[in-house]
Amino acid sequence: MLYIDNLSKFYGRFIAVNNLSLHVPEGDLFGFVGPNGAGKTTTIRMVCGLLCPDRGSIKIGGNSMSVYAEGVKNSLGYVPDFFGVYDNLKVKEYMEFYGSIYGIEDSAIARMTGDLLELVNLKNLEEQYVDTLSRGMKQRLCVARALLHNPKLLVLDEPSSGLDPRARIEMKEVLMNLNSMGKTIIISSHILSDIAEMCTSVGVMNKGVLAAAGKMEDILQLGVNRNHLIIEVGSSMEEAVRHVRELPEVIIDSVMENRIILNMQGDDLAVNRVMISLMTSGVVVRSFRREEQNLETLFMKLTGQAPAGQEASQGGR
Ligand SMILES: Nc1ncnc2c1ncn2[C@@H]1O[C@H](COP(=O)(O)OP(=O)(O)O)[C@@H](O)[C@H]1O
Ligand SMILES: [Mg+2]
Repeated sequence: MLYIDNLSKFYGRFIAVNNLSLHVPEGDLFGFVGPNGAGKTTTIRMVCGLLCPDRGSIKIGGNSMSVYAEGVKNSLGYVPDFFGVYDNLKVKEYMEFYGSIYGIEDSAIARMTGDLLELVNLKNLEEQYVDTLSRGMKQRLCVARALLHNPKLLVLDEPSSGLDPRARIEMKEVLMNLNSMGKTIIISSHILSDIAEMCTSVGVMNKGVLAAAGKMEDILQLGVNRNHLIIEVGSSMEEAVRHVRELPEVIIDSVMENRIILNMQGDDLAVNRVMISLMTSGVVVRSFRREEQNLETLFMKLTGQAPAGQEASQGGR
């Protein structure tokens, strides 16, 4: 569906997107994650034809963005990271306004508006003034208008930014529903839990570079071949350490009071063998814990910083 090849963008001498290549297959719900300033918005704006790349190419549905720009733009819907100000405009007028930009007939817009509003959980709100909607509702209205021309690809830049938890869940449900209806979706976010829960594939961006990309399960596997095991010991520490040292493929990271932290390669069974070996050796094991590998720990490894938490995203703009 989307092919990005060696894409670069400079702002003056600063490189915001550095030689990025990426393929998003049809039907994917692709999450684009990375800290603020990573280059997500810049990439998305190039994908949507709003910003001209300095190098590289973008193809959507087999058509090059530069050559068939208008046709390509028609095949995608874009939800920007800001909503805009719409004084004295009703929801139905907002939809009419955008529908007319796409060249859709008034009668068709009116017909589609009801269906689209229902799809984004804004049923029967045609007569409501846009300015009176909550932030979450505005974001979903933005999704509805991006769907007016029935694009195959929907691109959303930080759609959950500044939303309260309930509004985030609603947005997530709308996007997962659209994806199940066959839309390919690209969503950028610095909120990892949203991405982890809804996306089928993910790209991690840092300082303009795509640090990792692929199917969610493959990406999570990247860090999984190394396990951190945290073992609390209730008997002689010396004996426990001696025993652990003799285990194959196990490296002791640190030893503190009654706790040993191990680093080892291998799958679940290999971890089980360590546990069994310790427990049958006479060492008293108070607890045996495996540090969880999730998108968050991977993000920290790849970007060297903690992801923004929920609190940080609630400030709004
Ligand atoms: N118009 C611009 N002029 C100069 N620098 C910019 C401009 N837009 C973005 N940048 C810089 O490019 C980098 C990437 O920005 P952006 O694509 O907005 O990242 P993200 O969306 O991941 O937060 C940032 O360091 C930002 O300061
Ligand atoms: Mg951004």
